[in-house]
Amino acid sequence: MDRRQFVINSAVGLAGLTILPSGLLFAKNADKVRLGYIGVGLRGRNHIGEGLLRDDVEIVAICDIQESSLKACREQFVKAKKKLPVEYTGGLDAYKKLLDRKDIDGVIIATPWQFHKDQSIDAMRAGKYVGCEVIAGITEKDHWDILKVHEETKMPYMTLENVCYRRDVMAALNMSRQKLFGELVHLEGGYQHDLRGVLFNDGKSAYGKGVEFGPNAVSEAQWRTQWNIDRDGDIYPTHGAGPVMNYIDINRGNRFTNLVAFSSKSRGLNSYIEKLSPGNKNAKINFKNGDVTTTTLNCANGETVTLSHDTHLPRPYSLGFRVQGTEGIWMDVADGIYIEGKSAKYDQWDKASTWFEKYDHPLWQKFEKFAEGAGHGGMDWFVFNAFVQSIKQRKDTPIDIYDSLTMSVITPLSEKSLADGNAPQAFPDFTKGKWKERKNTFALDDSGF
Ligand SMILES: NC(=O)c1ccc[n+]([C@@H]2O[C@H](COP(=O)([O-])OP(=O)(O)OC[C@H]3O[C@@H](n4cnc5c(N)ncnc54)[C@H](O)[C@@H]3O)[C@@H](O)[C@H]2O)c1
Repeated sequence: MDRRQFVINSAVGLAGLTILPSGLLFAKNADKVRLGYIGVGLRGRNHIGEGLLRDDVEIVAICDIQESSLKACREQFVKAKKKLPVEYTGGLDAYKKLLDRKDIDGVIIATPWQFHKDQSIDAMRAGKYVGCEVIAGITEKDHWDILKVHEETKMPYMTLENVCYRRDVMAALNMSRQKLFGELVHLEGGYQHDLRGVLFNDGKSAYGKGVEFGPNAVSEAQWRTQWNIDRDGDIYPTHGAGPVMNYIDINRGNRFTNLVAFSSKSRGLNSYIEKLSPGNKNAKINFKNGDVTTTTLNCANGETVTLSHDTHLPRPYSLGFRVQGTEGIWMDVADGIYIEGKSAKYDQWDKASTWFEKYDHPLWQKFEKFAEGAGHGGMDWFVFNAFVQSIKQRKDTPIDIYDSLTMSVITPLSEKSLADGNAPQAFPDFTKGKWKERKNTFALDDSGF
């Protein structure tokens, strides 16, 4: 079997299906999912690539405000010998025309963060499944507004948090569920990635050599850098928070109760620009976003979680996962696992792979072939598949509205904590008490992950 031939043959019992409103029964053929894309920049086109490989996905329409992105996207269709999608462009509201189409089941939103709230709200109101690239809204109120529309429309909303499906992250989840780490006590994760070459990218200089951002730059340097100027907080919490939430059943028997954030001084971006282009005006910018922002959260069941946002300094990539319990620990950065009484030597790390090979998650064993070659080591196939399968089965998404809002609202809460002199912030309960009864079903079977 290759990825193109893939049609999941899961036996989905009716008991597993969430009853959704009749508006969802519009699809003529549930074997095929019709998607629209809002934003076909670098990330949107990754998801286009995933869709083009599948026979159960038809990409009906795309929307973007830049011809360069549309052109690159068009080329993907030509290369894949697939029918070109209808294009919507011409302004910030062009996506509304795409949403007017009755032949679209779900939309993938991969635009700059400031557009996500309105685009996802309008998409739910138009009766579409929403798959949104990792930031739901900007303010805490935005998150409540999104929830309100979800409650009105009952349309599923999924943050496309791919790291939840990373192979080692899922192997550690498998180990944790088999109690290898004992009772979990403390967890860590984050976004620790030298983004200087992304935040300053004029499209002409070699990667990591540009010093420009804004309208004359390319991709994320056009818009993301401005957030580093304007906001102090953990502005990208979901890659760390998503996996951690699965380990400790957040919104499913547990919840975050409060958080507190600290932020270092901001020097990395200024120093980077000054080194490359002495005297450049951009080296004088006052970047509000501290170089390392550390957020610690408390949980109802007594665990602590620490998230790190660290994107302005020279450093090798590591999301810094740590899963620690009464029997042992995994530390991503140490590439090590230690399980008391089971590790080879007392007080010494085993190489993480020796455990992860043994406890590879069953879904990775089963679907490895399909994930091969997909973005970010294969996890992009998993997250895209999860979204598509949920639509096909007309059920809620595995990362649902509550999970999505929870991992994203960490940004405005961390900002508030910093603005209030590191004051603790109460964590909102988007489930309105339902977290006590909800069950953690993430990646427990192959019916939609
Ligand atoms: N999960 C991951 O691993 C991952 C990786 C990269 C980016 N992302 C996320 O994906 C999103 C997009 O990032 P990117 O790297 O593709 O950025 P990008 O700048 O390359 O692409 C954004 C695209 O959105 C378009 N756009 C802007 N406003 C629009 C509007 N109102 N309507 C329609 N199109 C509009 C732009 O023209 C551009 O083509 C962001 O939320 C980012 O954080 C996630």
